[in-house]
Amino acid sequence: MSTPFFDAVIIGAGAAGLFCAAQAGQRGLKVLLIDHADKVAEKIRISGGGRCNFTNRELDVRAPHKHFVGQNPQFCRSALSRYTPADFIALVQRHGIAFHEKHKGQLFADRSAEDIIAMLLAECADGRVERWQPCGVKSVVFLAAERLIANQAANPHPRPLPEGEGAKPAQPIALAPLGRGRGEGHPRPGNSQALSGFIADAESAGSYQINTDRGPVLARSLVIATGGLSIPKIGASDLGYRLAQQFKLPLVERRPGLVPLTFDGAEWAPYAQLAGLALPVEISTGAKKERMAFHEDLLFTHRGLSGPAVLQISSYWRDGQPLAIDLAPGVNLGEALRMAKARSRKRIANELATLVPTRLAEAWASTDADWQRPINEAADKALARLAERLARWQLTPTGTEGYKKAEVTLGGVDTRALSQQSMECKSQPGLYFIGEVVDVTGWLGGYNFQWAWASGHACAQAL
Ligand code: FDA
Repeated sequence: MSTPFFDAVIIGAGAAGLFCAAQAGQRGLKVLLIDHADKVAEKIRISGGGRCNFTNRELDVRAPHKHFVGQNPQFCRSALSRYTPADFIALVQRHGIAFHEKHKGQLFADRSAEDIIAMLLAECADGRVERWQPCGVKSVVFLAAERLIANQAANPHPRPLPEGEGAKPAQPIALAPLGRGRGEGHPRPGNSQALSGFIADAESAGSYQINTDRGPVLARSLVIATGGLSIPKIGASDLGYRLAQQFKLPLVERRPGLVPLTFDGAEWAPYAQLAGLALPVEISTGAKKERMAFHEDLLFTHRGLSGPAVLQISSYWRDGQPLAIDLAPGVNLGEALRMAKARSRKRIANELATLVPTRLAEAWASTDADWQRPINEAADKALARLAERLARWQLTPTGTEGYKKAEVTLGGVDTRALSQQSMECKSQPGLYFIGEVVDVTGWLGGYNFQWAWASGHACAQAL
C-alpha cells in the first residue's frame, strides 16, 4: 500500500490547527489534521465558562505588547493585522452564531462554545480537510532531498520508504533540501494530484514523514499546532516542544500563565476564611518600568488568590516577586477612617464594612489587636496602618496552581526562529508552528484565541 501524501499535515486539532486546516483546505490544498485526543477542540469547549470568549474587540493590532506577553510581543503584529478580530467576527456572523460583549471588549457565544467548534468543523468540511482523531504521532522524520534523489536514481519506481530507511532527521542547515526555496520545487496548490499517494519524483524530496498510530503519511509541509501544557487531562502534551528540539529550534522556558497563585499554608491561614469572596482591586507586580497593573476582580480561594485580576498578573509574576494589591481602589481609606473616628463609636470592623465587603472588613480587623475596638478609641496611627495595609497589601506567592489549572503556557518556540509573516521555521523550510506552542501568550479576554486564528491564517496563506 502506498504512503498517503498531503500538501500539509497539521498536528493538533485545537483552535489554531482547525482554523489553519480550514483555510489551507479552502485554498485547494490537500490537508490532513491529526489529533490524539478523543474529542475535537476540548479547550474551545471548556473555554469562557462553556461560551468561548472567541476574540476581543479592544485588540490594538498596532500595539500587540499591550495584550500579549513573550520575549518579542511585536512578533505577532503581522499576523494579527492580517487577520483581525473583525475578520473572525464576520465569520461568526456568516455562520449565524449569536454572540455578546461581556466586559472590556470580550466577545462570547450566546449559546455555547459548541457553536464555535461546529463552525470550525464546517469550515474544515468546506476545505475537504481529512481528520484523523484520535490518532497519536509516534515520530516525525524529515526526508532529506539528497537521499531521496539517490534512492530514486537506484530505483526509478520506488516503494514508500519504511520508517528510518532513507530518512534522516532534520539537519536544518546541512540538509537544506534541494529545490525547497520559496516558490521553487514545491508542488503548489493544484499539482498535489501528481504526488498523491506516492513519492513520485524529486519534487517530493524534502518532505516530512509523520509516523502515526494509523501508519506513515508524507507531507510537503508540516504544521505544529499542539498548543501548550495546560490541562493535561484533556490532551495537552509537550510534543510541539519536543519536535522543536528535534529540529534544533530554540525554546523559551515554559511556565503556567493565567493561573491562580498560592501562598504558604500558615501565612495564608488568616485569609483562608475569605474563600469565595470576590471584589474589584488594583493588582500590580514588578518595579518601576517593569511594573504591570490590572484593575479587575480578585477572588479569595482556600489556597490563595484567583479571579481575573490574579490570572492576568500571574503571566507577569516571577518566582519570589511580591504582589501589591489595593483592596479598595478609588477609595481614600485613610481619610474615610479618620472621618469615621470623628463621628462614630462603632467597631472599626463595622465602619470598615461601609468601605469594603463585610467579610473582608471582619477578617482584616481581626488580624491586629489595635483594630478590634470602637473606632473613636483607635489611635490615628493604628487607623493609618489599617488603611495602608488595605490599599497596599504586599504579599509574595509561593507558587501557582500549575498546569492543571492554568489557562495557558507562557514561553514556547522562540519567535526568533520563525517568520512573522508565515510562522515557518527560518532554518527548516516546510515546518511551521502556530498558536500557543509559540512564545506568544495573550491576556485573559479572547486574545489567545485571536492569536490562534491569526497565526493559523498567516500559516495557511503561506503553505
Ligand atoms: P489547543 O490547546 O487549542 O489545541 C492543541 C491540540 O493539540 C489539542 O486538540 C490537543 O489534543 C492536540 N495535541 C496535543 N498534543 C498532541 C499530540 N502529542 N499528538 C496529537 N495531538 C496533540 N482563550 C481565549 O482566547 N478565550 C477563552 O475564553 C479561553 N478560555 C480558556 C479556558 C480554559 C479552561 C483554558 C485551559 C484555556 C482557555 N483559553 C482561552 C486559552 C485557549 O484555549 C488556548 O490559548 C487556545 O486553545 C490555544 O489554541 P491552540 O490551537 O494553540 O492549542
